Amino acid sequence: MKEVRVGICGLGTVGGGTYNVLTRNAEMIAGRAGCPIRISRIASRRRRDDLDLGQIPFSTDVFDVVNDADVDIVVELIGGYDVARELVLAAIKNGKHVVTANKALIAVHGNEIFEAAAERGVIVAFEAGVAGGIPVIKAIREGMSANRIDWIAGIINGTGNYILTEMRAGREFGEVLKEAQALGYAEADPTFDVEGIDAAHKLTILASTGFGVPLQFERAYTEGISEITPYDIAHAELLGYRIKHLGIARRRESGIELRVHPTLVPQSHLIAQVDGVLNAVLVDGDAVGQTMYYGPGAGDEATASAVIADIVDVARTVAHESLQRVPYLGFEPSSLDNLEV
Ligand code: HSE
Repeated sequence: MKEVRVGICGLGTVGGGTYNVLTRNAEMIAGRAGCPIRISRIASRRRRDDLDLGQIPFSTDVFDVVNDADVDIVVELIGGYDVARELVLAAIKNGKHVVTANKALIAVHGNEIFEAAAERGVIVAFEAGVAGGIPVIKAIREGMSANRIDWIAGIINGTGNYILTEMRAGREFGEVLKEAQALGYAEADPTFDVEGIDAAHKLTILASTGFGVPLQFERAYTEGISEITPYDIAHAELLGYRIKHLGIARRRESGIELRVHPTLVPQSHLIAQVDGVLNAVLVDGDAVGQTMYYGPGAGDEATASAVIADIVDVARTVAHESLQRVPYLGFEPSSLDNLEV
């Protein structure tokens, strides 16, 4: 049976979680993939003393992974835009499949990356980029493939939701943000969380997956939670509402509307009950009606769960040739201008 070899780039929160879960559940994961999955190389700026990497080759240059003939799937977990873009394009050029948790990369450079991947005949999978451990990309792309999707809405930034939840209990914005950073929930630059940029990245990806339009992050209306005060929260509650930071993508006659902003949600709505670092995404399809996907939106092993689900998907393709091949984010060229703000 063909073994599939994985090279991990980045050993931060998600990289460490991925290493731990892949190692701990190796046998079960191999059973599901239908082939053994071996971590054949790891690269990260720093080694982690808490992880026993055994005999796995380690280097500090992530490009060593991309240039290693002993790697079939490059797992990009370094985050950020520029080096990650260079790394992923180099991996594609070398004929390697890519799994990434990097929503910023996909939202901003995804069109270029998917085009390069299609030309080279490799897969770029990104489940972990949206809503942490919730398999919402697979749910939309595969589970709802029979539906015309009219709108997608949800809480898609765990740090922001955690802050709003704790502020409702009387805690201070800054103190809670620091805690979210310490817990590994926040982005390297937490402005991305509190100014809505991270949610806009994720919404851009959700919209492309659901509506089959290209990624157009720059056309999303983006507003964060940094201006929300305890006074706003208390008054919303008095009026029977809860302030939630939502991402909303809606099909309009003239195109697709993308917006992220704080929203007043009736306290009785399911979305209002989603607290802490949890995320929830509602998707409306013409056949199935409204569906809701709920779970941990950030965190090491929760996000690793989604990273590894993609590794398994790609491993099936690598090990069994095209048995499991599905199009990853394909769209019609004619839909390029099909977005409005
Ligand atoms: N900073 C992100 C969040 C991490 O809080 O949702 C998961 O994408």
